Amino acid sequence: MRGMLSKSIVSGAVGDFATDVRRGLTKVGQKELPSKYLYDEIGSKLFEVISELPEYGLTRADERLLRAHSAEVVGRIPGEVILCELGSGSGRKTRWILEAFSRRRHTYYYPIEISPAALNICRRELADIESVEIVGLEREYLDGLLEVAARRQAGQRILVLFLGSTIGNFSPSADVQFLKEIRTILQEGDSLLLGTDLEKPVPQLIGAYDDPIGVSAAFNLNLLARINRELKGEFVLSRFEHLARFNTATRSIEMHLVSKQEQVVRIPGAGLTVALELGETIWTESSRKYAVSEVLQMASAASFRCEVQWLDQEWPFAESLLKAE
Ligand code: AVI
Repeated sequence: MRGMLSKSIVSGAVGDFATDVRRGLTKVGQKELPSKYLYDEIGSKLFEVISELPEYGLTRADERLLRAHSAEVVGRIPGEVILCELGSGSGRKTRWILEAFSRRRHTYYYPIEISPAALNICRRELADIESVEIVGLEREYLDGLLEVAARRQAGQRILVLFLGSTIGNFSPSADVQFLKEIRTILQEGDSLLLGTDLEKPVPQLIGAYDDPIGVSAAFNLNLLARINRELKGEFVLSRFEHLARFNTATRSIEMHLVSKQEQVVRIPGAGLTVALELGETIWTESSRKYAVSEVLQMASAASFRCEVQWLDQEWPFAESLLKAE
């Protein structure tokens, strides 16, 4: 019954793109841009394409696990549950969980995203699920979660979905810190379903982040194009190339944009002129690859108990159902 579905987006203040660009590109040593800015309308669509690429098995692994185990997740969380997803992505893999919960009762689903484009993709994708009320929150993750917690009524449990290994895009100690912050917002007995990409051979990882048809490259370069569009930047994209490399110290795939020549770029909207040397890079994203034991350590350091963990055999990936204790 489609009439049961209500969809809305609550907008909020988002970070200041110009300030973050200025801060990142004036850093002494390694220049950087925050990875959250990869996801404007074009970037979100490019990421959707990446998740379909044969070389990038992460999203399919996540989805396989959710498809296989959603009913068990529902069975393990009795009573009335509010679903809240940090980073809605396309919503495609969330479908399995939502359908499983909606079979039990009418369910509220709060996707939390700073990208309105991603929220729209998610709403479109999930619009046909019966008995699910979708309330998109255009917020930073923790602000959104605080808002959901404030709306909780007596007896309701919160299940936070943090899928797709987005946790891996935090820096090594920031990932545990972030889980701790989630935990402080939750109550004992609430749950977190956490997806984490696991270690695998480096050539396989490089292929996933530097695919032969260049979608990952376009996804990365779009960040400079976004600066041009939104901050009147003067980046010439052909003067940069995409680089994906494995950092063995942090066990992360890093994406960089490499300057192919010495150059000076004006970004009037950020009040900035930036000089780049030949071969100098702008670091745009890290994607950490975990050992199973690290996921468990991270969970317990943040006062979660791992109730059950499922692993994908085709593309090493872990889905962990964590209970706040
Ligand atoms: C969203 N995140 C988990 C992706 C990842 O694999 O780290 C983003 C991505 N970057 C390049 N390809 C995909």
